Amino acid sequence: RLQVIFDTDPGIDDAMALFLLARHPAIHLRAITTVFGNASLAVTTRNAQALCGLYGLPPEQVLVAAGAAGPLQAGAEREHSTHVHGEDGLGGEAQRAIDARSALHPLDPRPAYQLICDLVNAQPGQITLIAVGPMTNLAQALRHDPGIAAKVRQVIVMGGAFGIQGRSGNVTPVAEANMINDPEAADIVFGAEWPVVIVGLDVTQAVVMDEDYLAGLQGRGGAVGDFLWHATRHYQDFYHSVDGIRGIYSHDASAIAYAVVPEAFELRAGPVRVALEGIARGQTIQKLRPPGPVADAWTGCPAQQVCIAVDSARVLALFDQVF
Ligand code: BDR
Ligand code: CA
Repeated sequence: RLQVIFDTDPGIDDAMALFLLARHPAIHLRAITTVFGNASLAVTTRNAQALCGLYGLPPEQVLVAAGAAGPLQAGAEREHSTHVHGEDGLGGEAQRAIDARSALHPLDPRPAYQLICDLVNAQPGQITLIAVGPMTNLAQALRHDPGIAAKVRQVIVMGGAFGIQGRSGNVTPVAEANMINDPEAADIVFGAEWPVVIVGLDVTQAVVMDEDYLAGLQGRGGAVGDFLWHATRHYQDFYHSVDGIRGIYSHDASAIAYAVVPEAFELRAGPVRVALEGIARGQTIQKLRPPGPVADAWTGCPAQQVCIAVDSARVLALFDQVF
């Protein structure tokens, strides 16, 4: 089974992704590390703890550690996405998750970056990092111990947008939320010598969970199906108002889908940088031409993989397999 550390800012789609990780037989979830993003760090961490209870994850098997409360660069903070995910980060349903268990899942005393380094060093070549929030914790882990890059099996990132089929930013015209929340961190993660697969809006917006699909989750998996149905009400209202869709984009769940059914995705190789300045701040740019004689901003960056197409039905089928 794939040994996974899940770096997340729950978040409604994060909650759906975590359920796949908790239940899919191909996954051994070792730890959850939290980061600011969809809400403050205090809220995303509390949500991760509550979701562990709701999904029945045992504290002795799955460690939870709190990470960064803001981006690497002081002063670059942005508003949390409470208009997308609700004040409580879970569409007003956090209390339902908290109430599912009497005690909250305990927190590991280590900061997220330290827990990531410790687990990777303890099992070289084994750990897959799946990061679906701002990349701050991963960048901090690389700064703390650059040696982990060579020991991580794979890094799967939900973030960015590469203009495929016209898909660009969802916060600015060019920047996706996880990128704009900490562009410096994302640029460090994509530039490191470890294998990264980027599951961006190009594919996550191609997988829509429509109203019938979400309604079909109700009443399944004990309290879980009802929780997900109610939590997605707020999220789908937001997407209806901005993009006119009836349903929600898969986002973070598609990163989990890449981990378990990579053959459902088509990849494109090339070094990836993140714009750090001006109106393009947070834009992800993959260089496709081979390195030429003239050095540029991508020179020396390792080739990473960007998802450019997805078999949507295969991603959507995953929830049926875990309930
Ligand atoms: C990403 O941003 C967050 O709001 C979601 O949880 C997802 O990780 C989508 O752009
Ligand atoms: Ca997220």
